[in-house]
Amino acid sequence: MTSLPATAKQPVTLLQLSDSHLSADPQALYRGQSADANLASLRPAIRELAPEAIVLSGDVSEDASPESYWRMGGFVRDLAPVIAWLPGNHDERATMADVFDELGFDAGPILTLGDWQLALLDSAWPNRPEGELDEERLAPLDELEPGMPAMVFVHHQPLPVGAPWIDKYPLIEPEPFWKRLADKPVRAVAFGHVHQVYEGEKNGIACLSAPSSAANGERDAPKFTPSDLGPSARWFRLWPDGRWESGILETSGN
Ligand SMILES: [Fe+2]
Ligand SMILES: [Fe+2]
Repeated sequence: MTSLPATAKQPVTLLQLSDSHLSADPQALYRGQSADANLASLRPAIRELAPEAIVLSGDVSEDASPESYWRMGGFVRDLAPVIAWLPGNHDERATMADVFDELGFDAGPILTLGDWQLALLDSAWPNRPEGELDEERLAPLDELEPGMPAMVFVHHQPLPVGAPWIDKYPLIEPEPFWKRLADKPVRAVAFGHVHQVYEGEKNGIACLSAPSSAANGERDAPKFTPSDLGPSARWFRLWPDGRWESGILETSGN
């Protein structure tokens, strides 16, 4: 558990950094681009944003290597006082935990940030591109305090984003997840995995994706097709009264 003091009437700023797909070899290309250079290009904009917390929402690594997790750790550790993480389908939870535990990063599953609660859910399973939340992985949602606004982070999209190439690998059987949220104070569900910007809504709960820091794809395509969106991430501002806003952070100068 991590707690930051609640600052009266001031929002907290959070950055969701996703799908960096780093490899053991820092020169490795991901979909024809340098994953390391693209991630590094975001540093000035993240500094300017000065987030209180960064959530790494999975696919930190392309090859689940300790080297890739150490390099991500080195990149983010001085960019926010709180770094939280959850795995994606390309990650390996145990290897991530070895590295990120040593760096003092937080895997939740519930964190307090200002007057908000964040739930970090693990939808990734070995050797499966699609995600699933079974009863055990949904259980942290029951720890949410009823009287405090909350956000959920999860790697896989819990609803179709309208992109055939990635909607093939969604959060499967999402009904128990949505049912579980019915009586929870969750204002937004944020996910990665889709390598594009998505903003929608289900059952009155906002659903938003963070684009990839490495490579983003066109929505309307049968297979991954590079889009014009460069290295990016998503920011949130969370007010104590439950209001929030969000936007996309891009490389400075874009
Ligand atoms: Fe990804
Ligand atoms: Fe993914």
